[in-house]
Amino acid sequence: MLPGRGPASEREAVRVGPGEFLRNHFRLFRLSILERSIREGRVGPVVPPDGVTIEFLAREARRDWICSHASEIDWPQFRSALQHDHDLVVARRNGETLGWAWIGYESVFLTPLGRQMQLPAGTAYLYEAYVRPSARRCGVGTALVAARCRRASERQCDRLLTHVVEGNTPSLRALQVHGFEVTGRTHFLKALALRVWTRSPLPATSAASTTSAA
Ligand SMILES: CC(C)(COP(=O)(O)OP(=O)(O)OC[C@H]1O[C@@H](n2cnc3c(N)ncnc32)[C@H](O)[C@@H]1OP(=O)(O)O)[C@@H](O)C(=O)NCCC(=O)NCCS
Repeated sequence: MLPGRGPASEREAVRVGPGEFLRNHFRLFRLSILERSIREGRVGPVVPPDGVTIEFLAREARRDWICSHASEIDWPQFRSALQHDHDLVVARRNGETLGWAWIGYESVFLTPLGRQMQLPAGTAYLYEAYVRPSARRCGVGTALVAARCRRASERQCDRLLTHVVEGNTPSLRALQVHGFEVTGRTHFLKALALRVWTRSPLPATSAASTTSAA
């Protein structure tokens, strides 16, 4: 997750000083693009840590989740998620939510990247994974990746894409454990609302140019 992101309830109490404002709004991001093929439909089992359940939410529950977690800035992302029937998977223990993650189909808007992507048929995009700090390093993040691979395969997808901010070792590891490989790299400079890419960021984007601003 990029700086300044996170559940609305966790953001509310944070006062942003000038240093943090500059870091959040003027910054160079380096992204690794990862891909996995599941052409033969072979996906591993979903093995959550003891006592943890992994559940995909139905449409109404996804809508409720968005209302309780999203802030105004996230709305294009989640409007796209509802329009295109994206999947949301949640990890829980004893009724407490430990983490969640999304799978996008057809069209995905990523708030941190400020980017709308059109995905070809058969391609799914993994995004917005989050595990509460107190539940990390126990295998929840890896289980959320496994569950999404399985779900995407059930929805007839044979190609999975995602991105990781360079240096996010936990996220990279959780993906690599499930067969994702780094297939490209890109950078973007965020300057207030402007995002300038050093090269075309992701496969199959709606923007065809090699350098673009969104
Ligand atoms: C990325 C994230 C979802 C991983 O969740 P998690 O439940 O801690 O993941 P896991 O426990 O399954 O660990 C995944 C792998 O990362 C490793 N790992 C976890 N935390 C680590 C850390 N701080 N340093 C190094 N490796 C770490 C684990 O050992 C595991 O690798 P292994 O299978 O080779 O042992 C979680 O850290 C998170 O929510 N981060 C903030 C949001 C974010 O970055 N989301 C992803 C981009 S949208």
